[in-house]
Amino acid sequence: MKNNTQSQQLKQYIDGDKPLKKNKFAKLIAITSGKGGVGKTNFILNLAIAMSIRGKKVLLIDADMNLSNIDVLLGIYPQYTLSNLMDDLITVEQLVVEGPRGISIMPASSGDLMVMKNIKEYQQALINAYTELRKDYDYILIDTGAGISDLSIDFVLSADKILVITTPEPTAITDAYAMIKVLYYRAKSPDINLVINLAQTEEEGKTIYNKINLIVQHFLNKTVAHAGTIPLDKSIPEAVKEQVPFIIKRPRSVASASIHNIAVSILKEDKE
Ligand SMILES: Nc1ncnc2c1ncn2[C@@H]1O[C@H](COP(=O)(O)OP(=O)(O)OP(=O)(O)O)[C@@H](O)[C@H]1O
Ligand SMILES: [Mg+2]
Repeated sequence: MKNNTQSQQLKQYIDGDKPLKKNKFAKLIAITSGKGGVGKTNFILNLAIAMSIRGKKVLLIDADMNLSNIDVLLGIYPQYTLSNLMDDLITVEQLVVEGPRGISIMPASSGDLMVMKNIKEYQQALINAYTELRKDYDYILIDTGAGISDLSIDFVLSADKILVITTPEPTAITDAYAMIKVLYYRAKSPDINLVINLAQTEEEGKTIYNKINLIVQHFLNKTVAHAGTIPLDKSIPEAVKEQVPFIIKRPRSVASASIHNIAVSILKEDKE
């Protein structure tokens, strides 16, 4: 039998006939959290830039259908929305806009009433759109909404690697555990990695990770990995106000160093 072309493979994958040959297509990494406001969007945007700086072709998807804000963090005003794609007015490629340091961005449709009314349809359209673009990138990073509703879980389940972010606060930890439990229930063997944000020290990050991993081992008989710790860093809110990613505005800050470390370990892991 002749070798399939990438587009044939992709079609078969979308039709559900055949699994993708992973090494030829972008790896999908989703960021999620139980509790909202724990730092997902800032983390994933800066991680995308750190990976791009290292020569990877990165597409960042804003899949928070409720309150997306990657465009706000960057001060960009995308010309097209997912609604335009659904109406066949544009191609998938036209939905992608250029971001800093060579990253590509697919913005969401925050506050669009049509999207809100037909959310499942739009959600599937977005998943189809980035599945189609898998052949063009090394990594596709997906920012999802917080919480265990179907709205964000479907995006998370489409990923090869899942990053669950939490802070040391008990409420965030409890919600992160609830999210991990749902992921183990819904996915076959999810690759779940914890990011501890807003930690006072590296040690605190490790302690929180160990605590969550112990709960996961005890109640679910599974384990989660520790992707890394981001300290509380005032350069982050400063950068948010200026609409410049902190890894660009304050490249030598402690938060930037932790993002670079996490990017390096993800890339290293994928090389092995
Ligand atoms: N390590 C940190 N140090 C200091 N401030 C931080 C840190 N991480 C995030 N923040 C601040 O926390 C706020 C929330 O971050 P962000 O918007 O990234 O969270 P989110 O999880 O995406 O929220 P949502 O669930 O609403 O999408 C931001 O305004 C940012 O300034
Ligand atoms: Mg967010």
